[in-house]
Amino acid sequence: MIRIRRATRSDATAIGRVHVETWQSAYAGLLPDAMLAHMSDVRHSAMWARALEDPGEARGIFVADDEAMGVVGFGSCGPVRDPPEGLDDKARRVGEVYLLYVEPDFQNQGLGRRLLDAMFRQLRSDGFDTAVLWMLAENPTRFFYEGLGGALVGQRTDTFAGVDVDEVAYAWRDLAAPLVRRRLAP
Ligand SMILES: CC(C)(COP(=O)(O)OP(=O)(O)OC[C@H]1O[C@@H](n2cnc3c(N)ncnc32)[C@H](O)[C@@H]1OP(=O)(O)O)[C@@H](O)C(=O)NCCC(=O)NCCS
Repeated sequence: MIRIRRATRSDATAIGRVHVETWQSAYAGLLPDAMLAHMSDVRHSAMWARALEDPGEARGIFVADDEAMGVVGFGSCGPVRDPPEGLDDKARRVGEVYLLYVEPDFQNQGLGRRLLDAMFRQLRSDGFDTAVLWMLAENPTRFFYEGLGGALVGQRTDTFAGVDVDEVAYAWRDLAAPLVRRRLAP
């Protein structure tokens, strides 16, 4: 059985490991090789340990916890850091899903959707009515977010290890709506 739950301090090492593993597998060819090769379980675990020490940040960090394997996915959310230009209503309270990753062996089993659902609930209970998520424009999992109702609302260029990379933003304007898969236009 795999449970979605809020992360605790003792999850830092496991989240760091999954973070490095999922980036190295998902972003090969999309982000600079040298940067991916330089990622380290130790440094990322330390970064997550610091985040989990801070109650304000920790409330937005969730894990998918498998009975046998431990943490196999994670996500984090909180107030928006970079509001996309295409959000029409400036009066909205905007939250952001910062990260969402599921280990390759555990993908396509509904964990991404369940983690996203847990983060939307958290954002709602923290008073946000809209969620945005930035991702690499070339990431094939864009279709995962489009299928779950995300609307394209922005683009920007970010720099990773000195290389400019295009990113796009998706938004959900009704965090109470169930995350059911919609049929995409062919
Ligand atoms: C994107 C990711 C988080 C999705 O999580 P997941 O657990 O694999 O997805 P789920 O099983 O919850 O899928 C939910 C729905 O989206 C669909 N879906 C999943 N990945 C998809 C993709 N790449 N393209 C289109 N649809 C996709 C599933 O078929 C499912 O629909 P269904 O319920 O009708 O079968 C996960 O695959 C992942 O971590 N990928 C690599 C890292 C990455 O790119 N993360 C996103 C960074 S912003």
